[in-house]
Amino acid sequence: MRETGRIFLAMKDKHFLSISDLTGPEIKDLFTAAKFMKKQLKKIGFNKPVLNKKTLVMMFEKPSLRTRLSFEAGMTQLGGHAVYLGMAEIGMGVREKIADVARVTSGMGDLIVARTFKHQSIEELAEFSKVPVVNGLSDLEHPCQALADFMTILEVKGILAGLTICFIGDGENNIAHSLCLGSAILGIDFKCASPQGYFLKSEILEKAREIAGETKTLIQQTVDPEKAIYKADVVYTDTWISMGDEKDKDTRLKTFLPYQVTGKLMELADSQAIFMHDLPAYRGQEVTREVIDGPQSVVFKQAHNRLHVQKALLIKLVKKN
Ligand code: CP
Ligand code: NVA
Repeated sequence: MRETGRIFLAMKDKHFLSISDLTGPEIKDLFTAAKFMKKQLKKIGFNKPVLNKKTLVMMFEKPSLRTRLSFEAGMTQLGGHAVYLGMAEIGMGVREKIADVARVTSGMGDLIVARTFKHQSIEELAEFSKVPVVNGLSDLEHPCQALADFMTILEVKGILAGLTICFIGDGENNIAHSLCLGSAILGIDFKCASPQGYFLKSEILEKAREIAGETKTLIQQTVDPEKAIYKADVVYTDTWISMGDEKDKDTRLKTFLPYQVTGKLMELADSQAIFMHDLPAYRGQEVTREVIDGPQSVVFKQAHNRLHVQKALLIKLVKKN
């Protein structure tokens, strides 16, 4: 079994913008804390209010169900408070410069979660913020989702290192990117099947391969879904039309059609393989109903784990700062 015990890209600053801001051991520590709080919540109905009097400011340029709800519920459960600010309230970079938004917000709140179109906007927020900034999804990465995904895999499979994840669909996007980097960090082989023109961004692929060199894992990009899924332990897909890609909807629906995760395709994966999706899902597009609503699917466990692992993340960030 391959393990990564090294310190690679250790939470180098106070922010969490990429899954690669955490080391393998740091990610595993979060899972231990999240597992404890999840069990405690189930057993006695509450967690210690360790974020008492803390305010989380949530700035979202795009819609959200899971991310908003899990952060808001998480803050309530930890004794703190969350304030949601949508595009209409802030107009980040339109009504006001991002640097000014960061300076004002971080003078009042203790933590910031931002969901933006451009990853650059989150980087700019972080640069000018005095408090930790968490990436709640950008065009480049969705690291909070990846934390919940790996926690779910660990819960279901009992291990992480040595497994193989197959991602089928849009490689040039947030979900695939964070899964790819996270897999390399955690010692998991990662195989991505996407149409030409939708491959993992080269900067992500290079960074993942650099990490994979140390953890001795395989990072592969192919156009062939059958090759990528063969004997995989985890099969993952995401929407073909991410928020911001709506203008290309018709082209994308046609291009991605051979990449639909069907029951027939799932037969090529390991017989114990699980099916994952970050949600929202579009049944009949990236996945068939029989797969996402079938016995191999763990999609709701994944969604629920957002709550637990993000609570652990927020506590870590507050403690660190
Ligand atoms: N998976 C996820 O981030 O969902 P939302 O867009 O609903 O937050
Ligand atoms: N790739 C999707 C993820 C949604 C959680 C998007 O960016 O819309």
